[in-house]
Amino acid sequence: MAEVVVLESETDAGILAAASIRRLISQKPDAVLGLATGSTPMSTYRALAESLRADPLDVSRVRGFALDEYVGLPAGHPESYRAVITRDAVEPLGLTPGNIRVPNGDLATLETAGSDYEAAIRAAGGVDVQILGIGRTGHVGFNEPGSSFASLTRVKTLTEKTRIDNARFFMSPDDVPIHCLTQGLGTIRRARHLILLAFGEEKAEAIAGAIEGPVTSSSPGSVIQLHPHVTVLVDEAAASRLTNLDYYRYAYANKPAWQVV
Ligand code: F6R
Repeated sequence: MAEVVVLESETDAGILAAASIRRLISQKPDAVLGLATGSTPMSTYRALAESLRADPLDVSRVRGFALDEYVGLPAGHPESYRAVITRDAVEPLGLTPGNIRVPNGDLATLETAGSDYEAAIRAAGGVDVQILGIGRTGHVGFNEPGSSFASLTRVKTLTEKTRIDNARFFMSPDDVPIHCLTQGLGTIRRARHLILLAFGEEKAEAIAGAIEGPVTSSSPGSVIQLHPHVTVLVDEAAASRLTNLDYYRYAYANKPAWQVV
């Protein structure tokens, strides 16, 4: 089962996730990172940037694959995930821009964009660590409820709920694209380590579904129960609907010294 760690703050979760990623890069300088966008991974990117400033490590060969991208936004749109990943992760971490791929949401090449992306991930040797947030609908990536556990990168239709949640990044809710390209749940399952982060009460239900609910495509985050190496980092509010909370705390408090996140 996933290792569930309940932390006092988003900052603490970011520090733990960043330490895990840093350890990976020090062991494998051309590590392949799976990069989420949105608010959730920000504390991880900030902590990793801070750690790299304090104690530099060569990240020039690190490679990265974004989880998803909106379809049809004009090139250079500030809220395209290409722009967001560049701003939030590539620049602060000092990654090599040419090593970072984002699904191509251009309408002209949409038909082959998913298979091209899968081919690129395979050619890179797969994702070593996938950073994940979770939506209120339970989505990981943009795999909305009903997404197949075998799905690969493809076009999906965002739910109205997700579009409303993401409207905060746009001028108006109507500006949020309806379609996206997202790594599938099958793609995510192939990553060697998943780090799922969630903060705040509004994520509590989705987190409970992912960790303790039935494994069902109605709760896409429950795909983590099929994965052999998952770390879930949550704050108290996001953990508030977990039934086995005492056990997760007990397991973490008694974590063997040789085990790392
Ligand atoms: C982002 C992504 C989404 C977000 C989720 C949570 O690349 O794939 O699954 O992780 O929508 O978004 P935030 O973190 O903004 O609450």
